[in-house]
Amino acid sequence: MNAPPVIAIDGPSASGKGTVARRVAHALGFHYLESGALYRLVALASLRQGVSADDESALAGLASALDVRFQDGGILLSGEEVADTLLEESCGNRASEVARHPAVRAVLLQRQRAFRQPPGLVAEGRDMGTVVFPQAELKVFLSASVAERARRRYKQLIDKGIHANLAALSRDLAERDARDSARAVAPLAPAPDARQLESSEMSVDQVVAQVVRWYREGNPAGGGA
Ligand code: DC
Repeated sequence: MNAPPVIAIDGPSASGKGTVARRVAHALGFHYLESGALYRLVALASLRQGVSADDESALAGLASALDVRFQDGGILLSGEEVADTLLEESCGNRASEVARHPAVRAVLLQRQRAFRQPPGLVAEGRDMGTVVFPQAELKVFLSASVAERARRRYKQLIDKGIHANLAALSRDLAERDARDSARAVAPLAPAPDARQLESSEMSVDQVVAQVVRWYREGNPAGGGA
């Protein structure tokens, strides 16, 4: 039997890949993987348990012991709802540090691949098309300017009642981009066969429609109605 199809959507922080991936998954009736949440969960666990961002083996231990459930849009860590906590910049910044370690990435690789279930998966992150699902039916690399991404993240946080500062967000995003792109293992980079989508001037609806169109063009039989 053929493996269920995968659409890989990669891009930098706050490029809109989460919203886009969720909506594409909904449009096609596919499952959805937010891989950044796994790195953020390890980050949160490390902050709470006082594990250093440099302690690779302890972090890998935390990653393999994660008791996590994704359900109804929520994220339960050992039974506690943490989806909003994960959005905080402290978690995002720590996640980017945690993600440098090959041992952490190796542990999370299997967890991510387990999301590939019928009828299909939309997976978003940094290395979905390059490392986790190199055979993906469609790979999209979504980008947007730092200014636009900072604005989007600011709005997302404020809408959730989380305090935010635009200048600080902008600086953090640029720093995180640099760290994610420069790391030795699975750096943030488009797969050679990825379709590039620069979304600064596009609405979410337009981006979603473009991704669904690309998928259906490439998979006329299995692309859903
Ligand atoms: O997408 P995000 O902002 O939630 O991701 C948080 C951090 O996790 C990001 O700075 C880098 C890391 N990450 C990664 O290295 N690989 C992924 N597939 C997803 C996230």
